[in-house]
Amino acid sequence: MDVKNELNKARQNRYAIGAFNTSNLEVTKAIVCAAAKFDIPILIATTPSAIEYAGLKTIFDIVRDEIANSKIKAAIHLDHGKDFNQIKEAIEVGYKSVMFDGSKLSFDENVHLTERLVEYAHRHDVCVEAEVGVIGHEEGGKVSGKSEKSAPDQVKKFIELTGVDSIAVSVGNEHGAPKGESLDFKLLKSIADVIDIPLVLHGASGLKFHDLSEAIDVGVAKINIDTNIRHAFLHEIETSKEKNDYRVPFAEGMEEVEKVVSKYLEIFSNV
Ligand code: G3H
Ligand code: ZN
Repeated sequence: MDVKNELNKARQNRYAIGAFNTSNLEVTKAIVCAAAKFDIPILIATTPSAIEYAGLKTIFDIVRDEIANSKIKAAIHLDHGKDFNQIKEAIEVGYKSVMFDGSKLSFDENVHLTERLVEYAHRHDVCVEAEVGVIGHEEGGKVSGKSEKSAPDQVKKFIELTGVDSIAVSVGNEHGAPKGESLDFKLLKSIADVIDIPLVLHGASGLKFHDLSEAIDVGVAKINIDTNIRHAFLHEIETSKEKNDYRVPFAEGMEEVEKVVSKYLEIFSNV
């Protein structure tokens, strides 16, 4: 699918494209099964660590084949790419959507590298997302990255300087399990007012459903879910009574992931 076009359509028509993270066959199948029940397109996202786990070509082939064997409108997306060569390799293998996460860099460095990547990616018909501000995250229950909210004038300037296709912002959202986050809608609206490309919301596992709906109404057109998928899958494996055939707990995990993704797609459809 033409990711840039689909993101713009979502923004105009006030629904959101879910970007659901996977690292394996089972989670990918569960995401596809959920998406088959809805009319909106989705992205299936792999982080660099998912690629490290599964292998770039292997995970790409799994996602591509599962999409091709279904009727869903979807594409594979590189989530939180941090290195130009790594992103280039993903594009070479066939990714049509990539994120460059320059949130740890200075504003000028982030602009410079994003601009270079946009130039390369657009030559290959690939849609580029970047991040302005810092979306905090948590690893193993510990905060390992502190949030810095995005400033509207910086977001506007960044888009003008880089020509990026969509932009992830930090507006109270944080990666990881829910910690009582709430979105700063005043800030989100003031960013939406000065830009004309789709907004992306990361860290959606920690956000309340009604906040997600309100964010879509403001102009968020892509929403990322990872933690709640991993937790759903793991919970079923941990509590499974089956101790002999790993396919049984995996199937239970897949059912649960399908339920979680379906619930989000209901909200993202915004009907
Ligand atoms: O890039 C991935 C997402 O931002 C996922 O965030 O783990 O809080 O669902 P999450
Ligand atoms: Zn993220």
